[in-house]
Amino acid sequence: MENSKLTPFFLLLFTFITLLSTGVEAQQNKDEPFVGVNIGTDVSNLISASKLVSFLQYQKITHVRLYDSDAEILKALAKTKIRVIVSVPNNQLIAIGSSNATAATWVGRNVAAYYPETLISGISVGDEVLTTIPSSASLLMNAIESIYSALVAANLHTQIKISTPNSASIILDSFPPSQAFFNQSLTPVITQLLQFCSRTQSPLMMNLYPYYVFMQNKGVVPLDNSLFKPLTPSKEMVDPNTLLHYTNVLDAMIDSVYFSMKNLNVTDVVVLVSETGWPSRGDSKEPYATIDNADMYNSNLIKHVFDRSGTPLHPEITSSVYIYELFNEDLRSPPVSEGNWGLFYGNSTPVYLLHVSGSGTFLANDTTNQTYCVATDGIDVKTLQTALDWACGPGRANCSEIQPGESCYQPNNVRNHASYAFDSYYQKEGKSSGSCDFKGAAMITTTDPSHGNCIFPGSKIISNRTRQVVNSTHEASGGGRVSLIGFHFPPVCFVGNVLYLGYGVVSCLFYYLFLL
Ligand SMILES: *[C@@H]1O[C@H](CO)[C@@H](O)[C@H](O)[C@H]1NC(C)=O
Ligand SMILES: *[C@@H]1O[C@H](CO)[C@@H](O)[C@H](O)[C@H]1NC(C)=O
Ligand SMILES: *[C@@H]1O[C@H](CO)[C@@H](O)[C@H](O)[C@H]1NC(C)=O
Ligand SMILES: *[C@@H]1O[C@H](CO)[C@@H](O)[C@H](O)[C@H]1NC(C)=O
Ligand SMILES: *[C@@H]1O[C@H](CO)[C@@H](O)[C@H](O)[C@H]1NC(C)=O
Ligand SMILES: *[C@@H]1O[C@H](CO)[C@@H](O)[C@H](O)[C@H]1NC(C)=O
Ligand SMILES: *[C@@H]1O[C@H](CO)[C@@H](O)[C@H](O)[C@H]1NC(C)=O
Ligand SMILES: *[C@@H]1O[C@H](CO)[C@@H](O)[C@H](O)[C@H]1NC(C)=O
Repeated sequence: MENSKLTPFFLLLFTFITLLSTGVEAQQNKDEPFVGVNIGTDVSNLISASKLVSFLQYQKITHVRLYDSDAEILKALAKTKIRVIVSVPNNQLIAIGSSNATAATWVGRNVAAYYPETLISGISVGDEVLTTIPSSASLLMNAIESIYSALVAANLHTQIKISTPNSASIILDSFPPSQAFFNQSLTPVITQLLQFCSRTQSPLMMNLYPYYVFMQNKGVVPLDNSLFKPLTPSKEMVDPNTLLHYTNVLDAMIDSVYFSMKNLNVTDVVVLVSETGWPSRGDSKEPYATIDNADMYNSNLIKHVFDRSGTPLHPEITSSVYIYELFNEDLRSPPVSEGNWGLFYGNSTPVYLLHVSGSGTFLANDTTNQTYCVATDGIDVKTLQTALDWACGPGRANCSEIQPGESCYQPNNVRNHASYAFDSYYQKEGKSSGSCDFKGAAMITTTDPSHGNCIFPGSKIISNRTRQVVNSTHEASGGGRVSLIGFHFPPVCFVGNVLYLGYGVVSCLFYYLFLL
């Protein structure tokens, strides 16, 4: 993690869409996407390798990446089902890149010696070499090829994939994604790398940090998009060339990689997110490095991967991700955030508890086992009323508690009533995906919205109220899903040069006016 990961990500489009039709149900991937974790070890009093492995198993972590090839950890991982990526540190590139014999020795000692007892699934060669030490680019390709030859000689090349993690800053103009391209001065080596990945069916490893995109573009990239929060459609970003809608920054970053590869005519290499995450603590200049934001980012990231909805460009491909990182590395130098990217402290107690219920069994320390569906913040009353009418009518939500005199009638406003109705519908539908949407009027929350005597469906709170018999009529009914009747095009585009941190960019805002 260095500041070199800062990414230019300026060109942003906002749409003002009142109602937008839901996308096609995403195709599912054959290869199950997974969430792994990076294990950095700049930690004082790190637990022993055997305890680490028990801890990983207890937390149901199935994929890890090491920044080296630590013998103790690799030994301890033997006979477990945990898959591990080992790394060639940058300071070993010269030796390995300049001698096939050294590469073969490295593979023998650090890979073949443990495989298959330890399920080594990949080798990451160097770390962000193209951006931190561009002069070593050719050495990098030599190292990759030599290690590959050594794997072929050991007949391990089909089981173990080789790649190199890249900083997002190898891509320029990443938004709109369709206009992204690789920094031309790196194109020769990137072309070689992509040819290698294509030939050996290896992924392109990318370290993608919406946190830095957000920090570098405050006021342009909304926090909600960076954190995968449920968005009002007006906050979605739209790529004007493809009309693809982006609800989160990570998907846009991944698609910018696919578009950049397409520019080089490479279409058969998959993106693997070798690092992503959000810091939970920072100094005064890092006010968004908070526990809440880190929890929100990582929890939503995990759900997003397990939803297997891919990206807008490639709904059929969901990238696997490695969260940066397992432990807070307290020995790292400032800024404060550097030591606070971890899900756990070095002694394995959680920094915060993720909210990932419903996403399989990943991570044991997940307390909230319940989710609710409530009205999205900032949605207009008219949209809410329409959705409320649909939920209580055709949607057959149980709206009895929001009738006059009933427990959830107060506060008597559309937002409160809509939240109750949405949650009733959501719980009735078994919290199935798509049952908390209402065209963007609804969002999922892990906070129990119950208040006073008003107990929301799905809540574990038990009401202490004696029920009174109250007559009520079903006032809210009828309606139906609102349809998009028409829209007004073309977009308005402002072009101007804006300078952010020394990068010149053209910023263009498109406003789509959807008129009902
Ligand atoms: C390493 O091996 C590859 C393929 O086996 C070969 O093309 C290359 O010339 C060798 N490099 C050196 C430095 O011997
Ligand atoms: C492109 O890469 C070159 C070589 O690493 C670097 O000097 C240059 O600053 C990069 N350009 C941009 C716009 O990042
Ligand atoms: C990609 O393919 C197109 C069409 O075949 C060709 O015109 C273009 O030069 C190719 N670009 C690269 C970078 O190879
Ligand atoms: C995490 O889970 C373990 C085992 O259930 C428990 O002992 C520990 O207290 C939990 N940590 C927190 C912070 O809840
Ligand atoms: C979470 O929900 C699952 C299934 O509904 C249930 O089996 C499990 O016991 C629950 N866990 C907790 C901690 O409530
Ligand atoms: C609707 O909810 C109320 C209050 O929770 C409950 O008493 C009633 O049985 C529910 N009606 C139906 C049809 O489920
Ligand atoms: C019980 O009801 C009273 C008044 O209706 C309320 O103030 C109190 O918080 C309730 N207690 C619980 C545990 O819900
Ligand atoms: C309920 O409504 C019915 C019909 O409108 C009426 O006859 C009855 O008296 C009402 N009961 C109460 C408790 O208000």
